[in-house]
Amino acid sequence: MTTAPRQFPDGFLWGASTAAHQIEGSNINTDWWVREHTPGSGVAEPSGDAADSFHRYPEDIALLAAAGLNAYRFSIEWARIEPEEGLVSRAMLQHYRRMIQTTIDAGLEPVVTIHHFTSPRWFAESGGWHGRDAVDRFARYVETVLPILRDVRRIVTINEPNILSMMHGKHEGDLAAIGLPAPDDAVSEALVAAHRRSREILTQLPGAATGWAIAGQAYHAEPGCEAEMLAFRHPREDLFLEAARGDDFVGVQAYLRTFIGKDGAVPVREGVETTLTGWEYFPPALGIAARHAWDLTGGAPVLVTENGIATADDARRIDYTHDALLGLHDAMADGVDVQGYLHWSALDNYEWGSYKPTFGLIGWDAETFERTPKPSAAWLGGIARSGLLTHPDPAHIPYTDPQ
Ligand code: BGC
Repeated sequence: MTTAPRQFPDGFLWGASTAAHQIEGSNINTDWWVREHTPGSGVAEPSGDAADSFHRYPEDIALLAAAGLNAYRFSIEWARIEPEEGLVSRAMLQHYRRMIQTTIDAGLEPVVTIHHFTSPRWFAESGGWHGRDAVDRFARYVETVLPILRDVRRIVTINEPNILSMMHGKHEGDLAAIGLPAPDDAVSEALVAAHRRSREILTQLPGAATGWAIAGQAYHAEPGCEAEMLAFRHPREDLFLEAARGDDFVGVQAYLRTFIGKDGAVPVREGVETTLTGWEYFPPALGIAARHAWDLTGGAPVLVTENGIATADDARRIDYTHDALLGLHDAMADGVDVQGYLHWSALDNYEWGSYKPTFGLIGWDAETFERTPKPSAAWLGGIARSGLLTHPDPAHIPYTDPQ
């Protein structure tokens, strides 16, 4: 790592990300809502009202703008827009259009995700991503939302198709566990096809850059296990990055690292600092994932669409994010074209089965929904304003690998 002050370029996007199901509340027409209320599904608690952002989005957007950020990534909900197959809700299209407009009016660039893990229940009931018509159905949804996306400059087609493919197989309940089932090859194939079709459809919006957002980990091979690591990583990550070749950008989302041994993923070692999701505290994951995405896509511009930490200690959130940004800046200094950094997450939210892992720059009261921005929100907003990476504690020592 170099020691010079880290200046990020003008025009860099600095923002925060959310997903509809994790913050809106009462998202009852999704497959996830069904899962949350199916006995034995392994989900610890249901999403319920979430952060009530379905109603409170103007306040959330205003808080991000007031902090100093210049971008907001959020998703639109297919299950609200098309609650029954072929039945399009004009009111919901207008709702999401208002959300886009509110973001623009607040001086933030909207980065809109078309699909973030949740699908309508009717879609799931008729085969989900295994269904023969899955890609056509998704393409029809993309056609439906074209008009509301007319002035959105960056669109993410599908969030983490690699994790979605794993969720779609034999789901074991808690996404916080790294031991997700292996991806389902048929689902992966359908998602690649859906992404390609969506990008084609979205060319009808001149000026819209389109890509998808891939969950990237820092994979490390145990000694002598390089081949096993590559074989493990390919269906879980590389396949999706390869499919992003030629896209306008690739969304990089990175949080952690995983060691791969002879028998696959190795559990986090004893004594290592972990976060509320049980993941190893490992800020370099972001720089490593950005470089890997750049290499595998053959130079697609990188947009960090997610990076963050589940912690109750906001000072540790700042440490993690600061050190992740150091690694990202190093990657940029080495030639990786990075367009922006969107922190996960704007708000504490429903972490796919539990409210315990708090990722937010903004907290909220479970009874009143009153928002409280954390010091990390003001800190990240300050960096967005100046473009200069600083840490509030001048004595902060950046992360070094204890391994
Ligand atoms: C997802 C988010 C999730 C976050 C933290 C990503 O897997 O896109 O929905 O909350 O990482 O687990």
